[in-house]
Amino acid sequence: MRVIEEPDKETVSRRAAEFLAELVRRRPDCVLGLATGSTPLGLYQELIHQHREEQLDFSQVVTFNLDEYVGLPPTHSQSYRHFMQENLFSQININPENTHVPDGRALDFEAHCEQYERAIQEAGGIDLQILGVGGDGHIAFNEPGSSLGSRTRLKTLAPETVRDNARFFESEQEVPRLAITMGVGTILESRRCLLMACGLNKARAVQATVEGPVTAQVTASALQLHRDVIVIVDHDAASMLARREYYREVEEAERRLRAERSSQPS
Ligand code: F6R
Repeated sequence: MRVIEEPDKETVSRRAAEFLAELVRRRPDCVLGLATGSTPLGLYQELIHQHREEQLDFSQVVTFNLDEYVGLPPTHSQSYRHFMQENLFSQININPENTHVPDGRALDFEAHCEQYERAIQEAGGIDLQILGVGGDGHIAFNEPGSSLGSRTRLKTLAPETVRDNARFFESEQEVPRLAITMGVGTILESRRCLLMACGLNKARAVQATVEGPVTAQVTASALQLHRDVIVIVDHDAASMLARREYYREVEEAERRLRAERSSQPS
């Protein structure tokens, strides 16, 4: 895992946007895996900015979102489809047909989940998957105890997640208890994963993700099995990492190497 520490949420968002924009410029028809929640909001703002000011072109980009609440129509203010429309899709030049979010109102969930997996395969697989992490260490809605080989499926939200997400609803009662989510196995098939985390309330989950044992109790820890993972954290979220100094040294050494290489005549 490559661990990049940045001062705050703004710089974390900018750094994540650099990776994503570089991919979109290099491969205009790339496949992105996207997340919702408060963590990627700054990243989406930065992408919108680059689209408007620097002509970052999303016209051929294909996206797949990680998850969706069961029972909420796409028009519901707290549905993840609505979140994506508001915070990204409606503000860039993406083709709406290229954007995929699981349908929380599907009648046959099993068939819908299988179809979602197939659509990812048919698009050629996910090139870069953006991830946040829950306070309990979940990625997507893969709550503690989820199989590390799991695929897209129906999942019951853990009580901690229901409490965390209640801030977006009028009351805890209104938070849906079920979601459709990509599985850990689905996520691990992405070519690259980029996990972002900010704030003291994520410090324990980040430590367990990066330095803890690989365990289904912290589904983000399964990322340790992936060969290309970038973790971008702010100072607060990095505060419990035991090898923090080392991660900084690695980044500094790589930065020096890149600077040396780019100053050499080609
Ligand atoms: C959202 C998702 C979740 C969130 C996680 C962190 O699509 O898959 O796993 O990334 O719950 O949420 P925030 O960013 O709101 O702290």
